[in-house]
Amino acid sequence: MTASALWYPCTQMHHLEQFPPLTIARAQGAYLYTTEGTPILDAISSWWVNLHGHCHPFINQAVMDQLGRCEQVMLAGLTHEPIEQLAERLVALTPAALTKAFFADSGSAAVEVALKMSLQYWQQCGETQRKTFISLENGYHGETLGSLSVTDIPLFSAQYAPLLIQHLRAPSPALQTKPELLSESEFIHQQLNALEHLMQTHDGEICALILEPLVQGAAGMHMYPASYLKAAHELCDRYRIHLILDEIAVGFGRTGTLFAHEQAGICPDFLCLSKGLTAGYLPMSCVLTTDDVYAAFYHPSVQRGFLHSHSFTGNPLAARAALASLDWFEQQQVLTTNQHLIHHLSHGLDELCQHPHIRQVRQTGMIGAFTLVNEHGIAYPAEEGRGRLLARKATELGVLLRPIGNQVYLMPPYCVTPEEIQRILQIAVTALEWAISEPPLNQSAGALA
Ligand SMILES: Cc1ncc(COP(=O)(O)O)c(C=O)c1O
Repeated sequence: MTASALWYPCTQMHHLEQFPPLTIARAQGAYLYTTEGTPILDAISSWWVNLHGHCHPFINQAVMDQLGRCEQVMLAGLTHEPIEQLAERLVALTPAALTKAFFADSGSAAVEVALKMSLQYWQQCGETQRKTFISLENGYHGETLGSLSVTDIPLFSAQYAPLLIQHLRAPSPALQTKPELLSESEFIHQQLNALEHLMQTHDGEICALILEPLVQGAAGMHMYPASYLKAAHELCDRYRIHLILDEIAVGFGRTGTLFAHEQAGICPDFLCLSKGLTAGYLPMSCVLTTDDVYAAFYHPSVQRGFLHSHSFTGNPLAARAALASLDWFEQQQVLTTNQHLIHHLSHGLDELCQHPHIRQVRQTGMIGAFTLVNEHGIAYPAEEGRGRLLARKATELGVLLRPIGNQVYLMPPYCVTPEEIQRILQIAVTALEWAISEPPLNQSAGALA
């Protein structure tokens, strides 16, 4: 047993005996620094939250200015300028039909908000038979009980099955799961048919379809084309089902556009944002929705309102960090300069395709990924712990990676340079070669995000 009082998230504490966590003393730009001063390139943006680099002077200043004025105030019966401004900015940046912003404090909480709002909307519109949700196989939407009910990653949900509500699952459009015999368009068509079949069989019972647009992150960066999103949106319209887009991981430029749904030219009924919302500075999330949804709650009766709340909803420091991040996007034309990085990433990933232990090399915008395979071209079983071995070696070599089982990915902050992208890929390959030469860890099965 470890002596520390700290119990870490998403960690089998027993593994820490072999791989103790690194202590990070400070962070700057794309780098974390250990207590010994060793720099580690943060190739995964610290769980996909950091956007413009750590300890960013412009965002630091904005947070410090706010700290001198007001650190926290409740958002019921009181309001403040940063949160009012942030709501306006987010509404202006998203499709015209999204007119209202509701804030919460984590990604999972945003998903809870969207699920509850959708259900209550249908109840208050008199469609009381609508009580279930469709989510995608291998989808991930968080780990609170409601969000876990629409998450399809048994490692995180199986233990809690008695507490979880059974919802409907549609097959994933992720190209990793495509049978070789099918073309991409045949496969997408097949997955859409299955989705429509679910909608038909449960016509009038479904509140919403929830999905992660373009990239199923926690599944292991499984990617799919915008054509699926566009068609799924049409199906939602046809069967009068809400569409909840969970852009918690992919929002704010990760897929190349500010939001992933822009690539399909669609507007959801609910858009969930978090992680990059505050550029990775402070916990905050937001659900954007339409006038139609808002109107269903607008009534003299208290019970018809949306009574969900969190103590720290709309925290002013987080709102200031988010506003500063949006200013930085505009001032520095971050999305335009990212195109250059996306091009470099694509070039670097192309070079990996020839490697005998690398398959399914893929990219969506600023996210690159590949699958680690054995000498027969078959993905290593997660229980061999090759990903963890790879991560350990990469850290020793100065790059923070955290493969999900046998899926290796990078999602660097936008301040990374083309040379650093190249270095991340080189170190990933060196660490991979070491990881496959080692004896397996033989841990129990599971692929932690
Ligand atoms: C797509 C998606 N939804 C929801 C969440 C949950 O967010 P949080 O960890 O802030 O609760 C995550 C976290 O990784 C995510 O990737």
